[in-house]
Amino acid sequence: MTDADVADLPHAAELLEAIPDPVLIVDTGRNLVAANAAATDTFGATGLGRDLAQTVRHPDVLRAADEMLSAGECPETVIELAAPVRRTFGLSVTPLRHGAAAPLLMLLFRDITVATRAEEIRADLVANVSHELRSPLSSVLGFIETLKGPARDDPAVQERFLDIMEGEAARMANLIDDLLSLSRVEINEHVPPSEPVDLEPVIASTVDTLAGAAQRKEMAIEMDVAAGLQPVAGDVDQLRQVFQNLVDNAVKYGREGSAVEISLQPLPRMRETGGVGVAVAIRDHGEGIAPEHLPRLTERFYRVDKGRSRSLGGTGLGLAIVKHIVSRHRGYLTVDSEVGAGTTFTVVLPQYAAT
Ligand SMILES: Nc1ncnc2c1ncn2[C@@H]1O[C@H](COP(=O)(O)OP(=O)(O)OP(=O)(O)O)[C@@H](O)[C@H]1O
Ligand SMILES: [Mg+2]
Repeated sequence: MTDADVADLPHAAELLEAIPDPVLIVDTGRNLVAANAAATDTFGATGLGRDLAQTVRHPDVLRAADEMLSAGECPETVIELAAPVRRTFGLSVTPLRHGAAAPLLMLLFRDITVATRAEEIRADLVANVSHELRSPLSSVLGFIETLKGPARDDPAVQERFLDIMEGEAARMANLIDDLLSLSRVEINEHVPPSEPVDLEPVIASTVDTLAGAAQRKEMAIEMDVAAGLQPVAGDVDQLRQVFQNLVDNAVKYGREGSAVEISLQPLPRMRETGGVGVAVAIRDHGEGIAPEHLPRLTERFYRVDKGRSRSLGGTGLGLAIVKHIVSRHRGYLTVDSEVGAGTTFTVVLPQYAAT
């Protein structure tokens, strides 16, 4: 860049305002000389002409400025601000020299909230996955040890242990399958599927695959389909997964001998978009879900009763998969539940519109 180009640049104040991240400039006495709009938004009214501490109270910010003023260097610092919403910033402090005048310090706050949150989610996921895999794996290892030692000559015990090991291995395989389908859905969540899908046969085949499980609990699965129901815009394999998970839950958590009722109805106005949709409600007569759990149900690995879900072979990923698939379809999921009476999950999907 030549001097002539620099002379064409806008005035320093305009440059400062154009920076989307908060910037504060202090003098060698740590008094605030300038602040851009992003800084005022983040830190509230700024105390121009006064000590930096009047504007930002965070001790790490003050320490960074002091370190630069006394030592002439300061590594980038990560700052957490709790209010008004939790945000994370990478703070860099740079001296600004202009001629013979005393230098100024520029404090630039780079918003790294999104990246930090993604990293926390990743770390949580790794911790959860390892934890979920470790318990079936330790149990399998324990049984192998017993089979090689004390149970070596006892065919009855061997048979029983092998059955348990089979169940534990199946649970690990389930977990891995669920994690893979979750990440597959996430990869193309921004591309809505567009094929016309008739929901009735999809749900009917799901009901068939769960008939055995329902029979073991003497439960009936009933389906009620509105006449003339239109297809939805969707991905048939993913929609099968949605209903497989929801009907599986209804059978798993429904009371023995009760019915699971599935209804498919047109919905003239979808929430938010107001478009035409199809609503599929899956209703069970089980113990229900207390209201405090409802907002968290679709989180990965969230289970109301961890021990029970696990003993039923659950990974706690079913509803997370449902939520992501439904959101890829530009639809939504609602839950109504009454403790002691039962739960209704409703999936609303946009109706297919031929173009
Ligand atoms: N119909 C229901 N009635 C009562 N509780 C339910 C129902 N559906 C889900 N839940 C609760 O929500 C939790 C999360 O459900 P989700 O389907 O994600 O996991 P899961 O059924 O435990 O395991 P997975 O589906 O991965 O085998 C369940 O553990 C259960 O506590
Ligand atoms: Mg489930």
